[in-house]
Amino acid sequence: MNQETADGSIVVCPDGPLIIRGEFEIVTPSGEPVPRQRKTVALCRCGASAIKPYCDGTHKMIGFRTEFPPDSRQGSTS
Ligand code: FES
Repeated sequence: MNQETADGSIVVCPDGPLIIRGEFEIVTPSGEPVPRQRKTVALCRCGASAIKPYCDGTHKMIGFRTEFPPDSRQGSTS
């Protein structure tokens, strides 16, 4: 099977941010571009970051926890 390589990726970090790599644009709800200085960014999922939409590490201090569907964990038999 011939499969194209993706231009980017999104990694859902357990108990943390979304790590996004590749070429993309982040915009506000009104369409204004959000400044971005790196090709790889971490977007806050916990809602506590002081630099939203980016992660500032606060998720660790507040004990943010996420859950994954049982079949998404490596080694799952379900
Ligand atoms: S996910 Fe890191 S500060 Fe919210």
